[in-house]
Amino acid sequence: MEFCTSVESIREVVTDWKQAGQRIAVVPTMGYLHEGHLSLMRIARQNADRVVTTIFVNPTQFGPTEDLEKYPRDLAHDRQLCQEVGVDAIFHPAPAEMYAPDFSTWVTEESLSQTLCGAFRPIHFRGVCTVCLKLFNITLADVAVFGRKDAQQALVIERMVRDLNIPIRIIQAPLVREADGLALSSRNKYLSAEERVRALALSRGLRAAQARYDAGERAAAALREAVLQELQPAADSIDYVDVMARATLRPVALIDQPALLAIAAYIGKTRLIDNLFLG
Ligand code: PAJ
Repeated sequence: MEFCTSVESIREVVTDWKQAGQRIAVVPTMGYLHEGHLSLMRIARQNADRVVTTIFVNPTQFGPTEDLEKYPRDLAHDRQLCQEVGVDAIFHPAPAEMYAPDFSTWVTEESLSQTLCGAFRPIHFRGVCTVCLKLFNITLADVAVFGRKDAQQALVIERMVRDLNIPIRIIQAPLVREADGLALSSRNKYLSAEERVRALALSRGLRAAQARYDAGERAAAALREAVLQELQPAADSIDYVDVMARATLRPVALIDQPALLAIAAYIGKTRLIDNLFLG
């Protein structure tokens, strides 16, 4: 497995692959890898000849009061997991390798990133779009795999790729959960044992909403209510519980088209997200 920290060195590796006619899949991550990330790498493996995983805690997608400094990192373990899954190359740049001191070019998606997390994290999706486009360009990837854990992110990236005619195929991968329902996340590390128990309210709420939906309920307010009944007693604060049209990420009152039920809530000081696609 190749391990590259400079743009120049990863470019050499991927250029050789391209010249040999091989197809490249990229899996962008911020590291502290878990089974959710690994599932993306396995899907990448099935859809390309070569797999590049990028590990970069991207400073430009964190707000000034967010957890950039304490974001969990364990590069040795990440390398071992990538090796086991059969990743061909890791790209792990320092921030200075990605952002020149006078960096001044940004990608802003202006519709899907307005609601949900975008409403609470104003610069977040600008940072995500910009770094992902850079990573696509650096790795010369034909395919990129994104998880539905970050459903809005995947949709925003798909929109960017369509709008800017970026020659890459985006694959959305299923959300991976612990056996008890908790969505896997690097940020779960922040949770104390007591908070870990309370965090189950997110997935429990979504399951309650799914059950109502399966029983024929189509009113967004009723599905929201089903989530809030579980979430309100457990969460320290709630950013949103929203039912959005999947195509626009705008609120819908009645689910008569594919929809996304999405949650962001704080358990202690940890902000967790979870979601469910409906219809
Ligand atoms: P990160 O949170 O490390 O996630 C990297 C990828 O793994 C994302 O596509 C995310 O949706 C996916 N992922 C995380 N947890 C998952 C789970 N439980 N099930 C399925 N997929 C999961 O998302 C980012 O990093 C960054 O914003 C990034 C795209 C790398 C840009 O900096």
